[in-house]
Amino acid sequence: MSDMNYAEIVGTGHSVPERILTNFDLEKIVDTSDEWIVTRTGIRERHIADKDTTASTLGTEAATQALEKAGMGAEDLDLILVATVTPDMPFPSTAAIIQKKINASKSAVMDISAGCTGFIYGLSIADSYIKTGIFKNILVIGVEVLTKITDWTDRSTCVLFGDGAGAVVLRATKERKGVLGTYIKGDGRLGELLMMPGGGSRNPASEETVAHRLHYLKMSGNEVFRFAVQAMGDASRAILETTGLKPEDIGMLVPHQANLRIINATAKRLGLPPEKVYINIDRYGNTSSASIPIALDEIRSNGNYKKASPLLLVAFGAGFTWGSAAISW
Ligand code: ACO
Repeated sequence: MSDMNYAEIVGTGHSVPERILTNFDLEKIVDTSDEWIVTRTGIRERHIADKDTTASTLGTEAATQALEKAGMGAEDLDLILVATVTPDMPFPSTAAIIQKKINASKSAVMDISAGCTGFIYGLSIADSYIKTGIFKNILVIGVEVLTKITDWTDRSTCVLFGDGAGAVVLRATKERKGVLGTYIKGDGRLGELLMMPGGGSRNPASEETVAHRLHYLKMSGNEVFRFAVQAMGDASRAILETTGLKPEDIGMLVPHQANLRIINATAKRLGLPPEKVYINIDRYGNTSSASIPIALDEIRSNGNYKKASPLLLVAFGAGFTWGSAAISW
């Protein structure tokens, strides 16, 4: 027991669209192969949202599950944070839209744009509000419908992404558990390596922006890859230093699921055996800010989940951003 507040994880949830697109389906759309995708990325299939499914649809489903498992009513929430780069619309925020859907009448609402690191940013912000005693109950959602901004004629990106949402409910406690530490960084000089150039105030939507395909995600995959390996290493090292944990203390590494080769390089640097590295990229592809909270809900749904503690979460993404967190159940 101490005077400080900790942010305990009291509930998790996740949701993915029903429709599955396999690598074999993609072979029929672009010049690619299951073999290329599996060996270069580790992805075998991904879930794709239909026309009527939006960030708030998936986010609401994940949030409802997380609240239920936490045994908490939406009216008890002080803050809803939604990490996404594919919001329902630029404004109002997707957090506000989800607030209305779950009827969380008393909460503040905020979206976070930090690419695939968004969930870690959300956890870090939530942890700070709880530590300082400003808020007690916070819902953090990572949700992405990247397939809505995917250019299905660009084989170098369209094979990578999938849709989904994950959510966690955090509650203030005096016990040392939950979020043990977080680390977040950014480097805007690298922003143009990964962006959606259209639709904002620089290139407002017009016939021209549509004709130039500016409303799709653009990525220099190779450069992002090289940066990612460095960033994941830096973030892992930093959080171990801040929390005093050693690699051998880690119960489970939960890395952002962008590419199996990046995940393996990160695990190797930390000297972690395969059974301590959570991988679901084969089933979901890269779901950006949703990948870590989806993994957390899958881990927690397992009867043995307490063995996988403490967990080291680590991610990188558009911005550029990168970050990490250590949590215990
Ligand atoms: N099928 C077949 N061939 C392909 C495909 C495909 N889908 N895509 C590219 N190729 C070809 C290329 O044209 C190239 O051919 P060439 O040598 O004849 O020119 C060859 O494969 C190699 O291409 P590279 O881009 O060098 O392949 P690489 O091994 O780097 O893998 C990949 C590409 C998977 C995109 C990798 O660079 C990567 O994972 N990068 C990181 C992406 C990432 O993690 N982004 C995360 C952030 S996402 C967010 O924040 C929203």
